[in-house]
Amino acid sequence: MAVQLAAASVDLVLVARSSDRLEELAAELRANGGGSDVEVLAADLSDPAELAVVEKRLGTSDMPIDLLVNNAGLGYEGPFHTQDAAEVSETIGVNVTALVRLTHAALGPMAARSRGQVILISSMASLQGMPMTAVYSATKAFITSFGEAVYEELKGTGVVVTTVLPGLTRTEFHQRGRWNLEKWPSVGWQSAEEVASEALAAAARARPEVVSGRVNRVLAALSGIAPRHLRRSLIGRAARKAQSA
Ligand SMILES: NC(=O)c1ccc[n+]([C@@H]2O[C@H](COP(=O)([O-])OP(=O)(O)OC[C@H]3O[C@@H](n4cnc5c(N)ncnc54)[C@H](OP(=O)(O)O)[C@@H]3O)[C@@H](O)[C@H]2O)c1
Repeated sequence: MAVQLAAASVDLVLVARSSDRLEELAAELRANGGGSDVEVLAADLSDPAELAVVEKRLGTSDMPIDLLVNNAGLGYEGPFHTQDAAEVSETIGVNVTALVRLTHAALGPMAARSRGQVILISSMASLQGMPMTAVYSATKAFITSFGEAVYEELKGTGVVVTTVLPGLTRTEFHQRGRWNLEKWPSVGWQSAEEVASEALAAAARARPEVVSGRVNRVLAALSGIAPRHLRRSLIGRAARKAQSA
């Protein structure tokens, strides 16, 4: 998304923990983008003090933020009772607490200006409690529900919250979360670039929610009509089969 926004001459503030990778990306965007200013703000969003620094930046009135992309997120695979408690807290801290706090910090000034956009990166995993990624899918269900409610609260104000539901996307996500990809389907994968352009297009059209990718849109539609007990039973069976494979 940063690459696509820079190409459209949008000024950027890049946030993540790895300052060296952020500086590298910033240099690339300054050199190859459409002349945008790129600011780097290295912060660990699971750390309350560092999260507060990003919240403060969102409230700075002389350099207002018109678009907040809540993209940072993580999820570890494995049976819930065996997961590391610190990793469970980290997942909830980044995916839920930081996302809510940053959205809160951004929306106040945006509402005062009657203008602004917030993108929440949720997941297809938000549509169903997912065995083996129970905490991750629950954090994403929170995001989809939260985004839907705040979108309606702000309707007609000039401020829009767009929730994005990507499916399997080729990034560093699965390696970081120790997912065993051999057990996951090989179809329907998207590139980060495809998800980014669908997300930005949906936000530009002030859409409340977008499921990225054709395969995912079919799955989301089926999930919407299938009874909950049937979905739970199918997904549970698939997870147990994958476990024993
Ligand atoms: N990949 C998929 O299949 C998939 C599917 C559906 C939804 N998503 C969602 O897409 C979003 C982006 O994930 P991705 O696939 O691009 O994964 P990724 O390659 O692992 O990227 C995660 C990003 O979040 C940042 N981040 C992680 N923890 C952070 C922390 N504590 N503080 C600040 N920044 C942090 C990382 O930077 P640093 O490590 O430098 O901090 C990195 O820029 C996530 O919300 C994820 O849940 C992904």
